[in-house]
Amino acid sequence: MIRLQYDAYLSFDPFSAKCSKIFMEAIANGMILLMLSIGHAELWIMVINRTHALPIHDTTLKRLRHVLELVIVLFPIVLFLSVGLYDPGVLVGGVWSQLSFWWKPVLLLCTLGFLGLMYSAFRHLLYKPPRQQTETQSELIQMRERLNQDLIGEGPYHYLAGLPLNQIFSVEFTRKTFQLPRLPANWDGLTILHVSDLHFSGTLKREYFVELCRIAQETEPDLIIFAGDLIDEMKCLGWLDDTLGPMQAPLGRFFILGNHDWNQESLQIRQALEDTGWIDLSVEPFQLQYAGKILQLAGTEAPWMGTLPEIRQTTTGVSSEPESDFLLLVSHTPDNFHWAVREGYDLVLSGHTHGGQVRFPVIGPVFAPSLHGTRYTSGTFARGSTLLHVSRGVSGIHPLRWFCRPEISLLTLHITDKAAR
Ligand SMILES: [Fe+2]
Repeated sequence: MIRLQYDAYLSFDPFSAKCSKIFMEAIANGMILLMLSIGHAELWIMVINRTHALPIHDTTLKRLRHVLELVIVLFPIVLFLSVGLYDPGVLVGGVWSQLSFWWKPVLLLCTLGFLGLMYSAFRHLLYKPPRQQTETQSELIQMRERLNQDLIGEGPYHYLAGLPLNQIFSVEFTRKTFQLPRLPANWDGLTILHVSDLHFSGTLKREYFVELCRIAQETEPDLIIFAGDLIDEMKCLGWLDDTLGPMQAPLGRFFILGNHDWNQESLQIRQALEDTGWIDLSVEPFQLQYAGKILQLAGTEAPWMGTLPEIRQTTTGVSSEPESDFLLLVSHTPDNFHWAVREGYDLVLSGHTHGGQVRFPVIGPVFAPSLHGTRYTSGTFARGSTLLHVSRGVSGIHPLRWFCRPEISLLTLHITDKAAR
């Protein structure tokens, strides 16, 4: 039954105290229904985020996502029609205490979803890098202006690339300095170029990636790391020849693959990278001798491919010398961070979450394919003596970046200041 207060409407006087009260109550209840709808959407987005962190193929994920997106859109309509107008009709004079029994648990869950979103928003607003990150600089490169050409190709979702405010062609080169307690003294100043999530698909033209890799190479890093998600369309595999292929670093170039490569011909992608001289870290850890010390480089593509690497900072049975002086893990997803902390890694480099790709004002990122939701979408995080750096990556299968620029990072490692220890 629609609980319209017909008497009030028949003798409608917009300036009467009664009408004004009904109007204000309707506005307030409308806001509550809107918040509950947002909370409901957040609950399903949490499901989308977590399922996208699991080794499920993209066709299944896409179907699931479309169903959940439909549920997210339909729920507010049902909520406003039912609770707003009929049961108990809080927009037309009804009261919340008359809410039917079966709506109560649903709306309680929606409230929890809304509170969860508020928590994520506060966490985003209050984020600041850990004290180990002592310096940050960034330089914006407007790729369209730089190359003076249209960089949108014919690949999937190319229509998104031209949307207003899209920052996909506004690349941020960040330079971050980390102080790490176990860094050998004679490694002070070691630089690592951290590149992730190129997502070659044809949607962004080859020239865009060629120029980005050329600019990245100009930083002359000691070591280059690619953290996965190279290919979304196998026809673009040849792009390696003038992108990652020619890059060089004195200590080497190391890669792992990501979940998008897993959805393609990953063996072919792996081979193509190796053919250009890149070293695959997913097979086994790599022991790098540098300035008389040992850097253990390990990589993991789990949970999509392979397993978690089995190296630890242990002592040999013969002497008490450690088997490695510094442990670096490249993990496509930041979800392996807590495992890496337990294993005693010094530095973890990740990508995968793309910074959320779309960030809302105040709220920040909402979508992130991680078991931790939006917690590790991008930035630097410290836990114990382990530091995690998550790159926002360069691209994505969806070429859309709102308030979330593509990123390539040059990381400079320093020994810890004695004063800061
Ligand atoms: Fe990616």
